[in-house]
Amino acid sequence: MTMQFRENRKGILLAGGAGSRLHPATLGVSKHLLPVYDKPMAYYPMSALMLAGIRDVLIVTTPEDSGNYQRLFGDGSHLGMRFEYAQQAKPGGIAEVFEIAAEFIGDSPVCLVLGDNIFYGQGFTPQLQAVAARQRGATLFAYPVKEPERFGVVSLGAAGQVLRLEEKPAEAFSNLAVTGLYFFDNDVLDLAKEVRPSSRGEKEIVDVLKAYQAQGTLQAEVLGRGFVWLDAGTPESLLEAGTLVQAIEQRQGLKIACLEEIAWCSGWITSEKLEKLIWQLGKTEYSGYLISLLQTK
Ligand code: G1P
Repeated sequence: MTMQFRENRKGILLAGGAGSRLHPATLGVSKHLLPVYDKPMAYYPMSALMLAGIRDVLIVTTPEDSGNYQRLFGDGSHLGMRFEYAQQAKPGGIAEVFEIAAEFIGDSPVCLVLGDNIFYGQGFTPQLQAVAARQRGATLFAYPVKEPERFGVVSLGAAGQVLRLEEKPAEAFSNLAVTGLYFFDNDVLDLAKEVRPSSRGEKEIVDVLKAYQAQGTLQAEVLGRGFVWLDAGTPESLLEAGTLVQAIEQRQGLKIACLEEIAWCSGWITSEKLEKLIWQLGKTEYSGYLISLLQTK
């Protein structure tokens, strides 16, 4: 696995919200810290940012949960990355994150990923890197699902162009959900400012995408058959995600979203540093996996 480092693109991992669909499981802990099989949920979206070559990440949490994320992720240097933290006090919508992150983003392009989104599939890394290399416009990732009306919904034309976009429409007009992974150029800071709260009182990310659509600079990537996209936001989907990760990891002996592995394979940390991380993890199946990587290098 070789990774190209895209120096200028910033990443945002949005791990805010009350996780109310998972109450009481999330009364005492942030949803994105719950385990999906063998690692915290937030590792999965973080791995997507890393596979896109992004090393500079802002982790946005509720004020109450910020300390726990800092304990988990630190300053990122153990992964050869740089993490900063910001807080979203009230659930004002996903698009609000660009106001919170404006200073962090500066004049860079940015990739936003939602903390409960899990992506897994062959060919994802080159796809991410190709999208990350686009300097202009915005890109969304669409995925066919059985109940699209639970999500943002997008319909595409024959040439893959975005025809229509709606947040949780009463009736789905396509089977393609808009997943929680978005790439934007720096115009997003200005475009997001123009977004007004929707009827549910939130600044919708779909409205930001619509602004790009109006400019003719919105692209869509379809994640098709054989690809896995899950949002682990309900008890069923959380369990399903854990079971699926377990099945794949057990079968292949390869881990999904193993951040230390990605950092090491990308050349962001040395073998000596990886050894230190293994030692800090103690004796677990996860650390055993990392040891086996070092032994077979
Ligand atoms: C959010 C977005 C929606 C997207 C979904 C993906 O919905 O608003 O467009 O399809 O994430 O996970 P939420 O989970 O906040 O209801």
